[in-house]
Amino acid sequence: MLITFEGIDGCGKSTQIELLKNYLDTLKVVYVVFREPGGTEISEKIRSLLLHDTGEMDPVTELLLFSAARSQLIREKVIPLLNEKKIVILDRFYDSTTAYQGYGRESADLDSIFSLNRLASHQLTPNITFYLRIKPELAALRTQNTLKDRMERSGTDFFNKVSEGYDELATKEERIFTIDATNSANKIHRQIIELIGDLQQYQAEA
Ligand code: TYD
Repeated sequence: MLITFEGIDGCGKSTQIELLKNYLDTLKVVYVVFREPGGTEISEKIRSLLLHDTGEMDPVTELLLFSAARSQLIREKVIPLLNEKKIVILDRFYDSTTAYQGYGRESADLDSIFSLNRLASHQLTPNITFYLRIKPELAALRTQNTLKDRMERSGTDFFNKVSEGYDELATKEERIFTIDATNSANKIHRQIIELIGDLQQYQAEA
């Protein structure tokens, strides 16, 4: 089962992933979490180019690097785990590329982005996606005192477009559940575990 988390920076994804991990631990369910970009040696190297390089990066280069990092992670780690019937949780997946590079950066037209997403994910589709929705101004307040990476320094206009992109995607894709990220962490967590439903088949034998 593939579960993905999406939303703009500051939406509270990390908190929810931590809460979900604790919940899965109590159920004795076997799961693995990866963050994108990252999760393999090659993908972590690409991550550091994408987030910590200070030079000007061409938008198409950026799009291809996020996709390259993804391809490696999916092929090397995610597909084998799913074949073993494990739960895989991804902190971001190709909806981030659609929202950030497609809508935000306008690196390429959306059809090209969708084709690239299919290629880089080796045709994998999440079973369920949680989109933690928050207004960009509010998210910016939440992250104002944190150190910003290259993507996070992209400015208000950029994040407004990314946010509109997520909203549009969420109306088109049935697998995407929009969660109000301004609610309390516990309330959001309860919503998420309810939507995931029964996990008995993933529980380790006692
Ligand atoms: P990260 O530190 O993991 O941010 P967060 O904790 O918010 O997930 O950095 C990932 C950054 O890269 C984040 O700003 C979103 C961006 N990103 C893209 O622009 N495109 C993508 O395809 C992915 C996976 C991430």
